[in-house]
Amino acid sequence: MDIKKLLSEMTLKEKIGQLVQLGAKFFADGAGADETGPLAQMNVTEEEIACVGSTLNFMGADVMRGIQTKYLKTNRIPMLFMQDVLHGYRTIYPIPLGLGASFDTETVRECSAMAAKEAALGGVHVNFSPMVDLARDARWGRVMETTGEDPYLNSVMAKAMVEGFQGDMGRYNVAACTKHFAAYGAVEAGRDYNTVDVSRRTLNEFYLSAYKATVDAGVKMFMTAFTLFDGIPVTANKELICGILRGQWGFDGVIITDYNAVREMKTHGYVPDYKCAAQSALSAGIDVEMMSVTFIKYIEDLIKEGSVSEADIDRSVLRVLKLKDDLGLFENPFRSADADELERVALSEEHRSIACGAAERSAVLLKNDGLLPFSEDIKSVAVIGPHANTGEILGFWHCGGRFEDTVTVYDGIKKLVPNARVEYAEGCLAMLDSTDGGGIAEAVALAKRSEAVVLCLGEHWGDSGEGNSKLNLELPEIQYRLFEEVSKVNSNVAVLLFTGRPLAIGRLDKSARAILNMWFPGTEGGSAAANLLFGKVNPSGKLSMTFPACTGQCPIYYNHFNTSRPRPDDGRRYAYTSSYIDGPNRPLYPFGFGLSYTSFSISAVKLSVKAISFGRSLTASVTVKNTGYRGGHAVVQLYIRDKYASCVRPVKELKGFKKIYLNSGEEAAVEFTVCEDMLAFYHSDGKRAAEAGEFTVFIGEDSDTENCADFILTERL
Ligand code: BGC
Repeated sequence: MDIKKLLSEMTLKEKIGQLVQLGAKFFADGAGADETGPLAQMNVTEEEIACVGSTLNFMGADVMRGIQTKYLKTNRIPMLFMQDVLHGYRTIYPIPLGLGASFDTETVRECSAMAAKEAALGGVHVNFSPMVDLARDARWGRVMETTGEDPYLNSVMAKAMVEGFQGDMGRYNVAACTKHFAAYGAVEAGRDYNTVDVSRRTLNEFYLSAYKATVDAGVKMFMTAFTLFDGIPVTANKELICGILRGQWGFDGVIITDYNAVREMKTHGYVPDYKCAAQSALSAGIDVEMMSVTFIKYIEDLIKEGSVSEADIDRSVLRVLKLKDDLGLFENPFRSADADELERVALSEEHRSIACGAAERSAVLLKNDGLLPFSEDIKSVAVIGPHANTGEILGFWHCGGRFEDTVTVYDGIKKLVPNARVEYAEGCLAMLDSTDGGGIAEAVALAKRSEAVVLCLGEHWGDSGEGNSKLNLELPEIQYRLFEEVSKVNSNVAVLLFTGRPLAIGRLDKSARAILNMWFPGTEGGSAAANLLFGKVNPSGKLSMTFPACTGQCPIYYNHFNTSRPRPDDGRRYAYTSSYIDGPNRPLYPFGFGLSYTSFSISAVKLSVKAISFGRSLTASVTVKNTGYRGGHAVVQLYIRDKYASCVRPVKELKGFKKIYLNSGEEAAVEFTVCEDMLAFYHSDGKRAAEAGEFTVFIGEDSDTENCADFILTERL
């Protein structure tokens, strides 16, 4: 399609339509009758709606076809269909925080490709994913959408997601949309939509790299955040949008706002009215307004007044037309929408097996005193708890995933050990406010007559995700009671944890013999849990986010600065140190942590040289040995510390990792190249460069590792 020619033939009304997105409700048959609902609330007329160029939140190929067919009766440019497909469309794989914990980019790429295929068949053109906001505060419900707290891990995962979704943009791919630019994850106190106030240094140093990685991977679209940067809503933030995203990074794809964010600038206290809001968003470089219609209402006036130029509008329209063209919509406005094919592909054996493998690789073994794995010769198993026999383990944003298609833990175990007596009792509910212990007696009776108990605890899936911030990261009291009562009558209790965020489960850690964190594992969660519990698969996930010892530690993350008065880590109380008087600084489980059914030893770090000059690199190597009795994956993690610099540096920063499989007794050499770029950081003038001085290289199994060696980056001559 000659989109420039098309643009030159378009009326202003048509152009404006391309820059607005409304929910599918507005277009579905009969929506016109919904005058009292969304139409009235938004004060938008049928005529205005008729030219809107894109929609979101529709479900299914047939709905899409219906809307598109009707739309094309009065429009010559096909409509664009967008949807949030964060961790699967019909087949649901683990939540992104879990995928991060796989430390396995191939798994993430594969899951994203599978999700894209189902979504494309469901009529989706653009996926509002990856969500790459760095997250340090588990109180924030949206941590489940990210791959965690580390800039490097987030960047490699974000890249893998874009590659998986977009592929070569063939029929089974969708365009990806990176969100939420930028630093939405820094909402104060973990309260969703709250103020963000990060310095430029923090933004550069920690928050930006994952967004940038998606630009480098060729992402087609970006979504801005609801929040502020430097006192200005991102929706109108020229520094971020024009300066960094378009300017420094050269992104020329479509930029869309978040839901109703243009109008919300008035609530922020940034503009007096919606006309000003529209003008601010447009001048900052926003192309498309999501779920509000200020562009429709005011663009014509703004052009007439000269506060917005038609040339800028044209540029935005052209970007939207290019996206539609890249997707092939001008040739086939229905693109890949095919309900029958979707039925064949969704939940196919292949997709279920991808989802199962991903759930297995995402799970993190947090504690094990030798209880796990259970023997397959087990005679009887009690599967107990609010998550034991429910499909509600898909997690928030489970899109078209259905609970009834999900393998429950109970089903998974029954299938794996068909000769055992496997019984189930719910015990209590997962809801935050549930105090009903009515089911505990039945659960205790079941535990008493069983050889082992799989106790499925955690949060309700609806308690993490957007809008679900928490003040308290403990498990609900009723779940502790269930644990305690069941443990009194059975000494073989393994806890399976289901959660969308790190939880402060110190109490559980103290007395449980084994804890396996499944996150929200998706459609095949029950099969994955069974395979892990019975040792068919050896756990290999590592935490993508620190688990706090108590909620008051949040935000807590491993790559913090040292402070001038760090507290010794020996559990004693020290006056006038950076610490709490009523608890530890140490988290419950650090970033990168996760056990295995085998054990590994890592030799002392060997460096190829003790000093390098600028532009040179060195090799850091270790020998990793499987010292246990079964094969397993080790995630060998490389961290670097710059001991002193003109701006203080974090105590450790992840710079690389390798996931390797070793049979029992097997050993392998693992090497990392340490190059100048890994030593670089942002200086006060915003420039990124390494500084001469002393560095420490750590190689170990988690961010707590002290296995290290020092080297020097010599002064420039
Ligand atoms: C969320 C976005 C999402 C959008 C559309 C917003 O509330 O913040 O992440 O893509 O809704 O569903």
